[in-house]
Amino acid sequence: MIQAPPSEDQVFELLRAVIDPELGADIVSLGMVPAVSVSPEGDVNVGVKLTIGGCPLRAQIKKDIESRVAVHPGVRDVHIDWGEMNADERTDVMLKARWNAREQAPATAVPLSTRVLAIASGKGGVGKSAVTVNLAAAVAAQGFTVGVLDADIWGFSVPRLLGIDEPLEAQRVEGSEKPKIIPNELPVGPKSRGGLLKVVSTGFLVEEGTALMWRGLMLTKAVEQFLHDVEWGELDYLFIDMPPGTGDVQMGLARMLPRTDLLIITTPALAAQKVAARAADMARRSFLRVCGVIENMSSFTCDHGETYALFGEGGGQVLADEIGVPLLGRIPLEAAVSVGGDAGVPVSLTGTGQAAKEFRAIAQRIVEDVAPPTNMAGCSARMLNLATAALDAHDTAAQ
Ligand SMILES: Nc1ncnc2c1ncn2[C@@H]1O[C@H](COP(=O)(O)OP(=O)(O)O)[C@@H](O)[C@H]1O
Ligand SMILES: [Mg+2]
Repeated sequence: MIQAPPSEDQVFELLRAVIDPELGADIVSLGMVPAVSVSPEGDVNVGVKLTIGGCPLRAQIKKDIESRVAVHPGVRDVHIDWGEMNADERTDVMLKARWNAREQAPATAVPLSTRVLAIASGKGGVGKSAVTVNLAAAVAAQGFTVGVLDADIWGFSVPRLLGIDEPLEAQRVEGSEKPKIIPNELPVGPKSRGGLLKVVSTGFLVEEGTALMWRGLMLTKAVEQFLHDVEWGELDYLFIDMPPGTGDVQMGLARMLPRTDLLIITTPALAAQKVAARAADMARRSFLRVCGVIENMSSFTCDHGETYALFGEGGGQVLADEIGVPLLGRIPLEAAVSVGGDAGVPVSLTGTGQAAKEFRAIAQRIVEDVAPPTNMAGCSARMLNLATAALDAHDTAAQ
């Protein structure tokens, strides 16, 4: 079936997920996208005006635009026409950014420079939670500060997998009337690098086994609260362990954190891959980007070195090809993964087996290629500060 290309309005809608992390808003509402055109063949042309031409965020903005627009069916190619703002346009954008910062309560307490990755699948039991904690730990071990949000409200398992059981505390913080929830912290990796996990889960609020009783009460709102009311502080990455399926939580995320990238987990069985494809389809309709597929429980190698494809073969690659994203890795079925889970120590940290190596390789790919940390050095942040200072001085002089 040949898909019709998106309308220009739909392209603008997709571009609302592209954030200028320094100016604190999406590039469409900041007025950085003067024009969009779409040819009948599906070639999309996006005009983008940067505050300054040599902005180091340009590479990231380019990648985000391309990947957001490319996922839409019927898109053949994405081309960006770069431009630079003149002095008036720059002032205008700065005013908008300043107004945003002052007048609009941020939708979430997650910093704009944080890369958000949600781990999703079509169904439960495929290893979402195992993958979430292992990747989060492996990324943090490189020296990053990584949030882990357990969004599997009724089936939480993150606290056990990371060996944390302290209840969450709330504290007053500067600039907020309501007390904020402080995440549980867990240093990981070599001390010299300072890797840190910041973990939030309903498991810290209720006893394991009693969560179901809370159903329909505050728990439906829990994920929203975790995004709003948690004092995340500095955060390079946020990994979200999603509940199985394609329900409310995903829609809520799309609304509150449209820049979320989805990592889809599947087992190698073709049947599982079909279920996972539904999750990808839902993502597309809610304008969330899928950034990769991970195949889990790929094969089992016994003590004698014999390898068995217990759950079939090839599902991950088929799914990745179907969505048009890379297969980021294949994690074998290995006792060390579940043993590490039971012990509360992710195997990706110190494990020496194939699964541990694969987790670390995927983490490396995420940091280097799939979702590199936001580079905030130089560029418009400094300009925003300068412009704000100038405008404030102007305001004061006018009084
Ligand atoms: N690669 C793997 N090798 C061995 N066991 C695994 C692997 N991945 C997950 N598991 C185990 O499978 C079970 C389900 O994994 P889990 O992460 O809880 O799935 P989900 O979050 O998708 O429901 C857990 O007991 C976990 O320890
Ligand atoms: Mg789970």
